Amino acid sequence: MKIAVIGTGYVGLVTGTCFAESGNQVTCIDIDEHKVQKLKAGEIPIFEPGLEEMVKRNTKARRLLFTTSYDETIPDAKCIFIAVGTPQKEDGSANLDSIWKVAESLAPLLAEDSIVIIKSTVPVGTNRKLAELLQKLTGRIVDVASNPEFLKEGAAIDDFSKPDRVVVGVSRPEIADTLHELYKPFLRTEHPFLSMELESAEMTKYVANCMLATKISFINEMANLCERVGADINQVRRGIGHDQRIGFSFLFPGVGYGGSCFPKDVSALISVAKSHQMEPSILNAVDQVNTAQKRVLFEKVNHYFKGDLQGKTFAIWGLAFKPKTDDIREAPALVLIDQLLQAGAQLKVHDPVAMNNVKDIYGDQLAYFDHHYDTLQGADALVIVTEWNEFRHADFDYILHKLSNPIIFDGRNLYEPDKMKQKGFDYIGIGLSSLKS
Ligand code: UDX
Repeated sequence: MKIAVIGTGYVGLVTGTCFAESGNQVTCIDIDEHKVQKLKAGEIPIFEPGLEEMVKRNTKARRLLFTTSYDETIPDAKCIFIAVGTPQKEDGSANLDSIWKVAESLAPLLAEDSIVIIKSTVPVGTNRKLAELLQKLTGRIVDVASNPEFLKEGAAIDDFSKPDRVVVGVSRPEIADTLHELYKPFLRTEHPFLSMELESAEMTKYVANCMLATKISFINEMANLCERVGADINQVRRGIGHDQRIGFSFLFPGVGYGGSCFPKDVSALISVAKSHQMEPSILNAVDQVNTAQKRVLFEKVNHYFKGDLQGKTFAIWGLAFKPKTDDIREAPALVLIDQLLQAGAQLKVHDPVAMNNVKDIYGDQLAYFDHHYDTLQGADALVIVTEWNEFRHADFDYILHKLSNPIIFDGRNLYEPDKMKQKGFDYIGIGLSSLKS
């Protein structure tokens, strides 16, 4: 099938490349000439495991092309995926300017039987508005569909190639057949293709992300309560997870969720609710708990050192909002760094891939190290913010030897508290019993 993907950001690039990988003829369009030139040369602008090789392979096979030209691409395309950014506005709502601009560029070029599909996360009602706009611009009814993505950064190719489900919202049922064909190579038994109304598909995306964000804020609040009552959230997690209605996944306490999706989507759904005269109490709380949770690690450090952080040095492991990505958008590490700098501390930081992005913000306010162990020398404590795999099996004797004080603040509960105590550390995690120490 001939496919056009508009927008070569994270979602567009992964979508286009995976469709090319399954044998389709894909052209990715971006207005940024410089970016297109780089992509043509096989240079990809984001860090995503496996993506670069897949882009190169499909570009070489000429199944994947990059261009700035709508004119050369759109008239031949059966499916046109819009995957442009919908950034958050000041009031929390989504900015849809790029979507409308794309629609205007597409309209004069669309083939009679083409389908325009929005992949970007857009507020409920946007697809219907797109259909109206395209009808106005072309003078005929254009088929539109909503096809939200559920890709996790760091696992995007796997998520696309083996989706738990594919959701499409359609303006008429026959459109779903074409999209089903397109997705068939990726579908497996038990992982359905779900066709629904446009509005339901749009809402599905927000509800999925807000549900996941709710799980995280809930477990973080419970972790904070565990600390106060002398319980251990790790044990509580095991205690609740065996109830199949609850389960174990996405209930790891930590330093709050970050990234490009959860914070933005929770705010956007709050804004949608408000625009329909509804005060979304749970969503408001999810957001508030998360904002507070991003400060918890600093509070623990500050409390431990009795509010005197002036001139203290901290080793920080992990800066990205989660492992396997260089993305630092809304990352809890940035909140911690701001607070520690504000309190007069000196910071020696390491992240396996996100360091350049952090350098762009903080410049020489921080000391950057290529190896996590090199941050330790003379530090007053180690603070772990992101659970990269390479931090999981640490050489504790070496850490003890290098740190000035045997203290670890662990925002991701990577280690066994009892073992850490035996080794001689003061080990402060999230939701661990403070009564035991
Ligand atoms: C998320 C959704 O998972 C994905 O379906 C959607 O399309 C985009 O948003 P992503 O932002 O890549 O994907 O990150 P994800 O792996 O879901 O993690 C989000 C945040 O939650 C991270 O900050 C992570 O550290 C945090 N998290 C996750 C926890 O704190 N505890 C958990 O148990 C799980």
